[in-house]
Amino acid sequence: MRIAVFSAHTYDKDFFDEANRREPAPFDLIYQEASLSLQTVAFAQGCDAICVFVNDVVNASVLEGLHKLGVKGVFLRCAGFNNVDIDAAQKLGILVARVPAYAPEAVAEHTIALIMTLNRHTHRAYNRVREGNFMLNGLLGMTLHGKTVGIIGTGKIGLAVARILNGFGCRVLGFDPMPSTEFTAIGEMVDLDSLLARSDIVTLHCPLFEGNRHLIDRHKLGLMKPGAMLINTSRGALIDTRAVILALKSRRLGALGIDVYEEENELFFHDRSSDIIDDDVFQRLMTFPNVLVTGHQGFFTTDALREIADVTFQNLNCLANGTSCPNAVMNA
Ligand code: NAI
Repeated sequence: MRIAVFSAHTYDKDFFDEANRREPAPFDLIYQEASLSLQTVAFAQGCDAICVFVNDVVNASVLEGLHKLGVKGVFLRCAGFNNVDIDAAQKLGILVARVPAYAPEAVAEHTIALIMTLNRHTHRAYNRVREGNFMLNGLLGMTLHGKTVGIIGTGKIGLAVARILNGFGCRVLGFDPMPSTEFTAIGEMVDLDSLLARSDIVTLHCPLFEGNRHLIDRHKLGLMKPGAMLINTSRGALIDTRAVILALKSRRLGALGIDVYEEENELFFHDRSSDIIDDDVFQRLMTFPNVLVTGHQGFFTTDALREIADVTFQNLNCLANGTSCPNAVMNA
């Protein structure tokens, strides 16, 4: 089978080639640096399936284009599938499969890195000490032990975050329409408004879908404790970035740590260091000393990349062998 792998970076190739070498009948992998969109769909010409990542556009028009080219499967090398029109894929008979969990601890650990960095200002201390400035002004943090952290979405990643914070001695609150007993063993489930009102740190770990776009909007930001920290390693559009900027400007929001951004398609996973970035909202975020942005790297560990490659090959083999795929994404 021939597979077009979109948004392919060197590290994707390394881990996919390694997994492919273990296949009894290796796949023919065509790596495309370009991301998938209506403009690049033709790169899938002659391919049986495609493999995509978080910011590839797999809407109804793109799926129509893929269908015309004879593509039978869309394989996500990620867990979230908000970028795929699942209904359209089903109508066209295109299999969509994902990697439902790849080291949730990797994302959880990155979440903790954002919290720890923002809290103790190590991103600023690093630069300050290198310039010979050993003043402590502006580096004051809080002791995490005994603080309350609200986790929105207590699935695999949210639970992993809760376990780490539990070890720190934090009080952990959770909000999730589908609470798990694993979470209630270490944390307290509450409604969203009381989670926001009681938490010193709020962290987002739920998937994005149309119903929860801008879950954290101006109103919800107003319910948060003054000076609280907001963390998002889930999906950018869960947060209304413009409302967050206003909350930062008014000093209501104490700090923001994000690994995802609602307009990240134009920026993340590209070297834009020589370009003029014309996203004024993003550039305004960059001016705050209490904002830390990383470019969607929560998943980026060797363990997770190996798992992504292995599970993607299991999914590809389902299509190749005509067997049912346990990681297929379908709407009821
Ligand atoms: P999961 O499916 O195990 O857990 C998600 C939880 O969110 C579920 O328990 C679900 O009931 C809950 N949920 C759904 N809607 C909700 C709402 N409106 N409010 C509160 N909770 C809600 O998913 P997992 O593996 O924990 O991943 C969570 C998200 O993390 C993914 O959807 C993805 O967007 C993001 N992610 C980010 C990565 C990164 O590199 N930054 C890497 C992997 C995932």
